[in-house]
Amino acid sequence: MIKLLSHLAHLEIHATDLDASVRFYEQAMGMREVRRDGDSVFLRCWGDYYTYSLVVTKAGQSGMGHMAWRTTSPEALDEAARRIEAAGIQGEWRGAQHDHGRAYRFTGPYGHVMELFWDVTKHKGEGQHASVYPDRPARRTNHGVAPRFLDHVTVAASDVRGFAKWYSETLGFRIMAYTSLDEAPVTVFGVLTTNEKSHDLGVVMDGSPIPGRVNHIAFWVDTREEHLVAADVLMEGGTPIEYGPSIHGIGEQTYLYFRDPSGLRVELNTGGYRNYVPDWEAYDWKPSQGSASLYRNAAMPHSMTESFPPAAAPSATEEGALPGTEDNLLAAAYGSHGRG
Ligand SMILES: [Fe+2]
Repeated sequence: MIKLLSHLAHLEIHATDLDASVRFYEQAMGMREVRRDGDSVFLRCWGDYYTYSLVVTKAGQSGMGHMAWRTTSPEALDEAARRIEAAGIQGEWRGAQHDHGRAYRFTGPYGHVMELFWDVTKHKGEGQHASVYPDRPARRTNHGVAPRFLDHVTVAASDVRGFAKWYSETLGFRIMAYTSLDEAPVTVFGVLTTNEKSHDLGVVMDGSPIPGRVNHIAFWVDTREEHLVAADVLMEGGTPIEYGPSIHGIGEQTYLYFRDPSGLRVELNTGGYRNYVPDWEAYDWKPSQGSASLYRNAAMPHSMTESFPPAAAPSATEEGALPGTEDNLLAAAYGSHGRG
């Protein structure tokens, strides 16, 4: 198969409180609003190569509107659409809009809306946003978390291996790693990539009947120091950190997780390996090996199992716990050795 996709270009998320969410992405994250269209606000990180990487749209529940990938060429865009339709899924061609060219939009087998395009406007900051360096799309900022660019998205699907297989066979994603439980042969997590990063698409097991859910969206900073300062800035600004900072065994990325004002989970990453091996074989990690926490000493909080839109509010059986098979399996997956 020719290489079809090059990288994740932007994400559309749903916000129950549009104003509060936009204020958060601008003030706490340090992103910049570049456009509004109806109930959607378009934002960029200083280092995003295209006009924007995040679209925040007002909705009744938090969640993901769509995820957009850039193809490797115009021919790859046509080939990707052909392959999706050959796999039995009918998408639609949409005309150029919002600083990218014609796009093929479809709903994947687990309910996630994906958009593919080739033509796109490359960003060049002007005036106070212009960088002194020719390769930089805009001047560096140190405002708030100040991510350089969008990093990845992790969705939720009822069958992790089925999800990975479809996106790998249809669109050429490399499957980089899985996590299966220590106690039972149940795969609860997987990571896929279009490039040298450990993942730009993650998938967690979803026991809910809701299709197309998202677990988190993730942004990138260049260094471990910036990551720790960001954690400090979030805490000082009144944003609790849900999990981290620490390092994942899978991908070896430094992570921390927090929530936006509409409840959606956001991750901040740095570090991690680069991997160019074309026939990489995905290892099936066990949580006890440190898949989620390299140091094997910190279990994931139960709240991390929540995906979006939220499932019907469970009747909590213990403080802070989300009961149910899905949550318990996931908690076991993220946890180190046992439950903390
Ligand atoms: Fe992640």
